Amino acid sequence: MSDEGRFAAGWLSLRERADHQARSPRLTGHASDWLRRRRRDGDPLSLVDLGCGTASNPAYLAERLPGPQRWRLVDHDPALLAQAGSRLGRLVDEDGRATEWSCDRQPLTPLSPALLDGADLVCASALFDLVSCDWAERLVRACAERRLAALFTLSVTGDWAFIDSRGQRREDGEDRWARDGVIAHQRRDKGFGPALGGDAPAALSEAFAAHGYAVSSAASPWRLPPGRVESRTLGSALLAGWGDTLHEQYPDDRERADAWLEERHAALEAGELGIEIDHIDLFAEPGEAQS
Ligand SMILES: C[S@@+](CC[C@H](N)C(=O)[O-])C[C@H]1O[C@@H](n2cnc3c(N)ncnc32)[C@H](O)[C@@H]1O
Repeated sequence: MSDEGRFAAGWLSLRERADHQARSPRLTGHASDWLRRRRRDGDPLSLVDLGCGTASNPAYLAERLPGPQRWRLVDHDPALLAQAGSRLGRLVDEDGRATEWSCDRQPLTPLSPALLDGADLVCASALFDLVSCDWAERLVRACAERRLAALFTLSVTGDWAFIDSRGQRREDGEDRWARDGVIAHQRRDKGFGPALGGDAPAALSEAFAAHGYAVSSAASPWRLPPGRVESRTLGSALLAGWGDTLHEQYPDDRERADAWLEERHAALEAGELGIEIDHIDLFAEPGEAQS
């Protein structure tokens, strides 16, 4: 990923299975209950997905939510939107009805609150580490002005670690050095201003709570145990990304970064180490508090 918030379709497709396995069914259930209460005779429910990429979020949600559904997918990347468009026609709601959808190629910076006009639910996944605190607060204000619920999933907390076959964290000073570098890099401007990185879940929760929302959150970690094919493929891609990040973050420590990468890659390939990455899902609705 570049600093301008560009993502390769190959990376998004590689992570999709882990993303879908990690998500909180409980919070999807809250979103489903909310939409059921918003149903109006004849009119489709209107859902907006911000930073949709190749439509992983609608691909997960459509069949788990009531319909009929009309999706509006927003992203600035035409290549990702083209891939999203090619799969949207196959998505059905929980009753097996085809969904309506449109793709909206536009930057989310600055935020145009009108994007949310007429919506019943605003969604986004794996987006908020990129955004600034100001941008997140503007989005929450736009939701509150429209009394809209939000389902924001798979926001990284910044914590990740290598794990052994018993799921125990295995780390040394080099891992902590690498993680600090990745965390610092996450805070660089990705086109939205200084990025929230792993502070995004807390910032979103606070902003919604300040507008009187009831906020529910759930851990949605990736758990990639040692030795599995997916742990090797996704783990290798993660390490490659962290390698690029460390080269940018620590330009004078290239050899140290490369030595760390080589060792951890060998341990991953040998099935000695897996990886765990923390995320948080959040559902926020105007009204009374829930669990
Ligand atoms: C990590 S990807 C997540 C994609 C998708 N939501 C998913 O879960 O697979 C972040 C997405 O945000 C989009 N994005 C980043 N910056 C953006 C901006 N300024 N305006 C619009 N889209 C942006 C990227 O193109 C990418 O599709």
